[in-house]
Amino acid sequence: MSSQNHSLRLGVLISGSGSNLQAIIEAIESQQLPGVEIALVVSNKADAYGLQRALKHKLPAIYLPWEQRTVGAQFFAPKLAMSESESRLTTLLHLFQVDLIVLAGWMRILSAAFLEQFPQRVINIHPALLPDDGTGSTFTTKNGTQIPAFRGLHAVQQALDAGVKITGSCVHFVTPEVDAGPVICREEVVIEEGDTEETLHERLKVVEHRLIVKAVGGFLC
Ligand code: GRF
Repeated sequence: MSSQNHSLRLGVLISGSGSNLQAIIEAIESQQLPGVEIALVVSNKADAYGLQRALKHKLPAIYLPWEQRTVGAQFFAPKLAMSESESRLTTLLHLFQVDLIVLAGWMRILSAAFLEQFPQRVINIHPALLPDDGTGSTFTTKNGTQIPAFRGLHAVQQALDAGVKITGSCVHFVTPEVDAGPVICREEVVIEEGDTEETLHERLKVVEHRLIVKAVGGFLC
């Protein structure tokens, strides 16, 4: 937890483009997040563009090979001992004195054993709307419409396939159940006629870039 003498040190975990990482970098550089610094960026993909973004801003960044287990392959990470990759990640996070872990497009499931080490200290950005406590199969939008809570892989496409008129993004605490932790903040996005997964995801990301900065800022007080 941050205090007067100690900044809030982020460990940002990525697997791809890293546009949300970029949003955090820009918020820090433009003094929108005073007291926040990125202690470390970790990618499970060597060629993730987010790694280049981090290096361009002279941030410590590392490629950490990870055993195959994609999000969506299972919806509950069993309470087993930590995997070797998770042990390595833990060592890194401690070494770089990370206070808050931000999953910004991180496509690997984290086990309960790993998460227990960082209670209320791991947050994720999800491109769909989840209910306040993260659980349950539906979400009620501001206009009172009930829509499914889309979880796991391809949540943007799931919303299009379901034919809903509204979707959105949220930042939530990470729990062992995938995309089912308490929501910190969210924003709705209207689905437009002719939207594709790409066009809709692009608009969702614009919202996410605001949400992630807001969510991180909330850990400062
Ligand atoms: C975001 O849309 C986020 O919701 C999802 O993965 C995407 C990551 O995008 N979990 P980026 O790598 O930050 O551009």
